[in-house]
Amino acid sequence: MGRRTKRTAVVLIGALLLLFCLVELVLFSSGRGTDCSEVSRNEKSFPTHSPSYNGFHERAHLNRCPDALGKNVSRDAIYARRRLRSDDVCFQSSRDQVYRMAEHDFTKTAFCIVPKVGCTYWLTLFRWLHNDTLGKHYTNPFDMPRYQVHYKPNIMKYHRFNMTSAPSFLSDRFRFMFVREPYARLWSAYVDKFILPDYWNVDGWKIAKRRQGATKSQWRCGNDVTFVEFLDFVTNTPVSKMNDHYMPYQQLCSPCLFRPHVIGKMETFRQDTRYILKQMNLSWLSQELSDSDTHSRHEMHMLIDDAYHEIRYKFFHNCTNTTHIASRLWTVFQINGYLPKSVRFPWAGRGHVDSRALKKLVIETYENRQPKNKFLYAAQKEQAMVDAYSAVPDSVMQKLRELYELDFKMFDYDPMLEILYRKRNVG
Ligand SMILES: *[C@@H]1O[C@H](CO)[C@@H](O)[C@H](O)[C@H]1NC(C)=O
Ligand SMILES: *[C@@H]1O[C@H](CO)[C@@H](O)[C@H](O)[C@H]1NC(C)=O
Ligand SMILES: *[C@@H]1O[C@H](CO)[C@@H](O)[C@H](O)[C@H]1NC(C)=O
Ligand SMILES: *[C@@H]1O[C@H](CO)[C@@H](O)[C@H](O)[C@H]1NC(C)=O
Ligand SMILES: *[C@@H]1O[C@H](CO)[C@@H](O)[C@H](O)[C@H]1NC(C)=O
Ligand SMILES: *[C@@H]1O[C@H](CO)[C@@H](O)[C@H](O)[C@H]1NC(C)=O
Repeated sequence: MGRRTKRTAVVLIGALLLLFCLVELVLFSSGRGTDCSEVSRNEKSFPTHSPSYNGFHERAHLNRCPDALGKNVSRDAIYARRRLRSDDVCFQSSRDQVYRMAEHDFTKTAFCIVPKVGCTYWLTLFRWLHNDTLGKHYTNPFDMPRYQVHYKPNIMKYHRFNMTSAPSFLSDRFRFMFVREPYARLWSAYVDKFILPDYWNVDGWKIAKRRQGATKSQWRCGNDVTFVEFLDFVTNTPVSKMNDHYMPYQQLCSPCLFRPHVIGKMETFRQDTRYILKQMNLSWLSQELSDSDTHSRHEMHMLIDDAYHEIRYKFFHNCTNTTHIASRLWTVFQINGYLPKSVRFPWAGRGHVDSRALKKLVIETYENRQPKNKFLYAAQKEQAMVDAYSAVPDSVMQKLRELYELDFKMFDYDPMLEILYRKRNVG
């Protein structure tokens, strides 16, 4: 980068800082702290002022925000703010790693993969861009069966690197990644991997084995791990040995190393995705960003398919059966706010539950749920997480705050999340 471009960049970043302050003002006054609800139509093209590779030190010369007033905030400003925020924290960070990254040459993009944060969506898209679809041709990437997306790719490569080995092609890529609120991420990992049959044979049995006096027949299935046991395990596992579903972002997708242009958030997935698709000249796919109703149905179908697919593996034979799994799925759909908490799983006494019959029952229950109010189910979902965390001892909460400290800071999440802490007395 030449001297002049560098200076221009600094001036541009300065101008952005002003916008950044506007965003902050809107955020703090609305009390949400994650993003603006109002987004202007002013979506500019790929920001040329985005940080150059290794360019974040420029940030050090800039002053703090002056006070400012404003309402209209463009998404460019939102991403600039998110980048500046993580850049600030990068000065404290070390041991950074990019664990798994996908890229595409023609669209000049790179996507750092964080499991469970829009990952299926983007992997589908990248596999399709690479024509890595098991020999089938799809006009629309989202026609590809979802379970296939997580098969090992044949053509597309995953990249893994650290400070010493970052690939040079990254410098001219449009780079993006997604994160989500760390407490919600852990809760979601627990629900998907331990309530449902997925990691019972990965970490589940290891967690159950830690119980005092447990015999092999008691721990071998790993199918009854509690949330507290799970968190206790996570906070006692060295980061280098951690599963990528709980690994801190810094070791999984460090923004200090990856230098994303866009840090998307689960909480604003649709707006962020629309913006990124536009940068990729794939705006026509925006229409696929389904409304929440379609998404819920899709998600329930997919979770049923996945769970029934999973329990065919030998490991699960003596550990579960279709009735057991169907009732677990039911619980998960209540946790996720799809099914009313008040309706109990009606087939608990059945011998065998067919997946197709279960889908039918679940969708019917979903369609007929009363009352209809969507906010009620969002509240039910939030309450499930709050209840789960209320059982977690303070000592474990403290370890979580330490383990994910940089994640909270880098991505602007509150380690003392109000909904989790309002009933706790933290000295
Ligand atoms: C935001 O900007 C748009 C278009 O530039 C304008 O129509 C709208 O009135 C503005 N809203 C506010 C609250 O300033
Ligand atoms: C997107 O389209 C614009 C205009 O057609 C073009 O200038 C740009 O290079 C394209 N970007 C990508 C990533 O293909
Ligand atoms: C993608 O793969 C399909 C099936 O193998 C093939 O027919 C098609 O031509 C390929 N498209 C591209 C762009 O490589
Ligand atoms: C960085 O990556 C290189 C190449 O993959 C590897 O040899 C090295 O051990 C890694 N360094 C650290 C600190 O992880
Ligand atoms: C399941 O249980 C039966 C009977 O107890 C036993 O013979 C079989 O080996 C077990 N299967 C697995 C996969 O553990
Ligand atoms: C199904 O699996 C669960 C969990 O392992 C077990 O408690 C239950 O007895 C099993 N039911 C049948 C009918 O085998």
